[in-house]
Amino acid sequence: MNLDALRSDTPGTAHGIHLLAAGSALMARPVITAVKDHLDLEVQIGGYEAHARQRDQLEGVYDSVATLVGGRADEIALVENATVAWCQAFYALPFEPGDRVITCEAEYGANYVAYLQRVRRDGIVVDVAPSTPSGHLDTEALDAMIDDRVKLIATTWIPTNGGLVNPAAEIGRVARAHGVPYLLDACQAAGQMPVDVEELGCDFLSATGRKFLRGPRGTGFLWVRGELISDLEPPMIDHYAADWVATNTYELRPDARRFENWENAYALRAGLGVAVDYALDLGLDTIQERAWGLAARLRAGLSDIDGAQVRDLGDQQCAIVSFTIEGVDPVARVAELRAGGISIGATDPASTRLDAEARDLPMMFRAAPHYYNTEAEVDALLDALT
Ligand SMILES: Cc1ncc(COP(=O)(O)O)c(C=O)c1O
Repeated sequence: MNLDALRSDTPGTAHGIHLLAAGSALMARPVITAVKDHLDLEVQIGGYEAHARQRDQLEGVYDSVATLVGGRADEIALVENATVAWCQAFYALPFEPGDRVITCEAEYGANYVAYLQRVRRDGIVVDVAPSTPSGHLDTEALDAMIDDRVKLIATTWIPTNGGLVNPAAEIGRVARAHGVPYLLDACQAAGQMPVDVEELGCDFLSATGRKFLRGPRGTGFLWVRGELISDLEPPMIDHYAADWVATNTYELRPDARRFENWENAYALRAGLGVAVDYALDLGLDTIQERAWGLAARLRAGLSDIDGAQVRDLGDQQCAIVSFTIEGVDPVARVAELRAGGISIGATDPASTRLDAEARDLPMMFRAAPHYYNTEAEVDALLDALT
């Protein structure tokens, strides 16, 4: 990686130390240009006209996202965030009372409240697969939990609150072996490591644009396995998702765009496409190696700070680092750091309540370096914390 070139291609690096790619990463210049150019075109010739003129480029975003995840363009729905993507898949699944959904201890709050809604509304049962002593989902235990009533395995690959990497592909093997659909929340994984839906063995995969992919805020996508699409009735449709073919009849689109609707932020979508291509050009393996290496440096440095405790779980740890410092309030300290030009975040126990309760976690610090960060920036954070 040519770090100098990458940093000069990232205007945000000149304005402070940004170590929060798990929140919303710094966009690269070509991404910013794509968004602004599309907006300028809308200003100059009108929104519909800009869309028509840029149609090929905007269609190409589906190809880019498909390449990113190892799927096909007709299996991609472009939506406004990861939660919409995940919900479009989850709420399309027709559960009966007593049907079981199995999830993980690291499950994200947005997903869990959706389970609870369907517990209340549809009478489903949510079961949580236990974790191994190191903290990732125990795939043997998952395997043993499966019976005829299990209608979905839905897990978070990388949780919002730390460096844990769940064994997503092994979970996929269990799902395949039992013929159970598998919905994978890849929100925190996309853009920091390779993603391959065939290797993962999942049926649905959701992700956001603004985190490690370095896309604009307000972008996300869903991948749906092609064979399943025609059987899925999206929870919300419009006359883009389905043709109104006769007064009392509609026909859903054959592709994954049945999970989209008609109006979209095309400038942001253009930016997402460029962000995905940018990551693909750099190589996800290369990105992973550098970002994870910087996170490892941060964890090592934290272990030398009095009272600091790294809280990341699992055998394998990614570019998200969660930690506490005895007697220090993360929310107040994060605000002070930000005022001093260093951006990290705080993570609330309520966003991963199962894990937080099991480990009695307080509010924690969350830092997430990306490949464009330098070792010196990580060390500056460590100095500030010390
Ligand atoms: C694990 C996980 N899943 C899903 C989401 C939701 O993503 P979005 O805010 O794009 O809907 C987040 C956001 O932090 C997350 O950490």
